[in-house]
Amino acid sequence: MNSIHALAEALQRTDSLAVITGAGVSSESGIPTFRGAGGLWRQYRAEDLATPQAFARDPQLIWEWYEWRRALCMGARPNAAHRVLAAMEQGAIDFLLITQNVDGLHLRAGSRKAEEIHGSLLRQRCTVCGQRTELPLAPLSSLPPCCPACGGVGRPDVLWFGESYDDGQMQRVHSFLAGASLVLVAGTSGVVPIPLQLAMFAKQHGALLAEINIEKTALSLAADFCLKMPAAEAFSQLAEASGLQLR
Ligand code: OAD
Repeated sequence: MNSIHALAEALQRTDSLAVITGAGVSSESGIPTFRGAGGLWRQYRAEDLATPQAFARDPQLIWEWYEWRRALCMGARPNAAHRVLAAMEQGAIDFLLITQNVDGLHLRAGSRKAEEIHGSLLRQRCTVCGQRTELPLAPLSSLPPCCPACGGVGRPDVLWFGESYDDGQMQRVHSFLAGASLVLVAGTSGVVPIPLQLAMFAKQHGALLAEINIEKTALSLAADFCLKMPAAEAFSQLAEASGLQLR
């Protein structure tokens, strides 16, 4: 089904909603996606900038790239998709937001029931003691930054290619998805397989599957609801159709 009203009705009936987001949800806030026109991986090679090996070779260069991206995110504002998702978790239903986005916009919009499975550009993590620290809202004065706890070299607190997902976080995500009655996947290409795997896991455990994307993806055929439209517009219309109050 591909109407807003059909999905809004399913949302009203659900008692346990999981939402999986990707870069497309932030593109209307001016944050570049990774693939497609203007995508970061069209301009840059991931293996030069988003691997532990690249960081070991030249931590200063990697930090400069992440500082550029962090400045973009700090200058951006959450859009209607982020705001509606933050409002959705306020309802009586069980809710979990699972995001691949590292831009911090979901949390800035007010989402708290959220798992940032690819980490966050707004934090550093110590390469020695592992402590995570929020970064200041201004550009860093020296790169790479040091850990405030032990003085070790800090790295961006993001998941790089070749690294594993956090076990505890994945357990929490799977345990929620096993009981979810609706899983909504928005703005992700599915080229990185995790959103597809998580969505199919939920579907195998009985969840209905919905997708919001401006293009067809590998998930579209399996989806019970498919809205081919920009995320901010889709979420605004869903909020209106289901009478959701935005903060
Ligand atoms: P991609 O850049 O791969 O895909 C973005 C998706 O968003 C595409 O399917 C677009 O069609 C869709 N899209 C673009 N604008 C949209 C809009 N306004 N509304 C709805 N959909 C829109 O981004 P991700 O799937 O998030 O990982 O990428 C997954 C991971 O690959 C990222 O988290 C990152 C990257 O390498 C790491 O850095 C670990």
